[in-house]
Amino acid sequence: MTDGTDFFDIVRTTRSMRRLKPDPVPDALIRQILEAGVSAANGGNTQKWRFMVIKDTAKKKAVQVWYKKAFDEVVGPRYANSAPPPGVTGDGYKRQHTAVEYLTEHYHEAPVWIVACLEDGPNPNRSAGASIYPAVQNMLLAIRALGLGSTLTTRHLQFEKETEAALGLPPGVHSYAILPIGYPMGKFGPVGRGTLADIVFGDTYGETWPPVAGA
Ligand SMILES: Cc1cc2nc3c(=O)[nH]c(=O)nc-3n(C[C@H](O)[C@H](O)[C@H](O)COP(=O)(O)O)c2cc1C
Repeated sequence: MTDGTDFFDIVRTTRSMRRLKPDPVPDALIRQILEAGVSAANGGNTQKWRFMVIKDTAKKKAVQVWYKKAFDEVVGPRYANSAPPPGVTGDGYKRQHTAVEYLTEHYHEAPVWIVACLEDGPNPNRSAGASIYPAVQNMLLAIRALGLGSTLTTRHLQFEKETEAALGLPPGVHSYAILPIGYPMGKFGPVGRGTLADIVFGDTYGETWPPVAGA
């Protein structure tokens, strides 16, 4: 368990916290999170990122209905029919599925959302997200360091037009992630991941980099 200061403890325990209390999150903390976000790298330092801090339950609910529809039609069946990812047990995967379902039902009840957007024009290309996801990850780490919980969510993009209309985004602005934020109901713990030996190669792709062999 981290004391909230050791960087590597924070990184290893920044996992998705999908069960959140309704207690309000002070604006001063949201500001700290946003400041961590805008400390991130971004292409050419053009800072085309824009962030919405959403507390309006009606607006969150208008997005949640699409988020839930995407779960019912795509994500739920996919979870039910897929094997656990590397480093995750069968039971752990079932717990994750239950938590994903919980967040789906309660998405709009998180006391505050940060919606990460880019002023990226009408047809953003594949690299556009590289100028917003570093900020998103900085915010997730800051959220964790402050003892708050969140989850990087993008499922609303399966109904991009509908959800971005519900968010009230103007033309030429797109959303890249929604972070539902609140005080977590559960405890922080280590993330579940596979071993480096399976995914880190040296000079030849596919051949394990020796320092991580067996790790
Ligand atoms: C691009 C991306 C999109 C994601 N979208 C969602 C989402 O819409 N809903 C959700 O519950 N989790 C979402 N997640 C969270 C992942 O499911 C989660 O990070 C992964 O299962 C690992 O679990 P952990 O964060 O607890 O370590 C997303 C993560 C990423 C990186």
